[in-house]
Amino acid sequence: MAYNLLKGKRGIIFGALNDMSIAWKVAEKAVEEGAQIVLTNTPVAVRMGTINELAEKLNATVIPADATNVEDLEMLFTQAQEAMGGKIDFVLHSIGMSPNVRKKRTYDDLDYGLLDKTLDISAISFHKVMQVAKKLDAINEGGSVLALSYVAAQRSFYGYNDMADAKALLESIARSFGYIYGREKGVRVNTISQSPTMTTAGSGVKGFDGLCDFSDRMSPLGNANADECADYCIVMFSDLTKKVTMQNLFHDGGFSSMGMSLRGMTQYNKSFIDENKDSEGNIIYG
Ligand SMILES: NC(=O)c1ccc[n+]([C@@H]2O[C@H](COP(=O)([O-])OP(=O)(O)OC[C@H]3O[C@@H](n4cnc5c(N)ncnc54)[C@H](O)[C@@H]3O)[C@@H](O)[C@H]2O)c1
Repeated sequence: MAYNLLKGKRGIIFGALNDMSIAWKVAEKAVEEGAQIVLTNTPVAVRMGTINELAEKLNATVIPADATNVEDLEMLFTQAQEAMGGKIDFVLHSIGMSPNVRKKRTYDDLDYGLLDKTLDISAISFHKVMQVAKKLDAINEGGSVLALSYVAAQRSFYGYNDMADAKALLESIARSFGYIYGREKGVRVNTISQSPTMTTAGSGVKGFDGLCDFSDRMSPLGNANADECADYCIVMFSDLTKKVTMQNLFHDGGFSSMGMSLRGMTQYNKSFIDENKDSEGNIIYG
């Protein structure tokens, strides 16, 4: 059901690669809620992915840009304002990639050149997006800028690797830029810390199925899916959250506040019994 929450607003959405992408769902809901949008992704992703199908369906313009490249971003913000006929009201940064993860380098054997890339793509690009937008004065007062994060920014998660450092930096950039952008231009900046979600980026995480199952069992409301994440993004872009800024907002069914749940304990006990007892329940030693 649509509520017209974004009626008359203009947005730029980074990161829709295919119909599993969180950004894809956000784009669909933003238009459903009355917004006009520009979709963007790297030139390669535009060629290889299915973003053009989405653009056609939503009557949106696609402007390719590498979010680590300042000139690309300047062109994007300039052309997006021309295409939509005015300043931007909301931006979604839905970008993440670790070449170390891709090349199966473990956290204690990182390639530092690749670490630079992870941080640039997954975190510093968020700073670049805002610096460019602010210099061009491209975002309206009361505008909303969002990036997507993960709880590995605060806690250690097996296999999340250097993306944990990228997310910690991303959340810090939201606070640091949020202060300046809020004070000078009335623009709010937040991150949403989302449950594990089955997408192209998500499935790159080591042991992703186990991680999803674990966090689902631990969360009183279960994992939040991509559609639900999109709903939260829409609320954050709307005028209903005008004074929310510099926050990392957990959207994870309660996971981040849990220690142990009954469902988690049951699963843990089951594997404990399976591993250590025979079919009669006698403990197997050794
Ligand atoms: N899937 C999850 O489990 C999960 C959980 C929490 C947070 N997130 C975050 O959500 C965001 C979106 O990821 P997703 O899960 O929808 O996966 P996805 O793979 O669909 O999206 C990642 C996007 O980043 C884009 N990208 C990579 N390098 C880029 C660059 N240099 N410039 C511009 N775009 C670039 C890719 O083309 C892709 O569209 C990421 O920040 C991710 O870390 C994902």
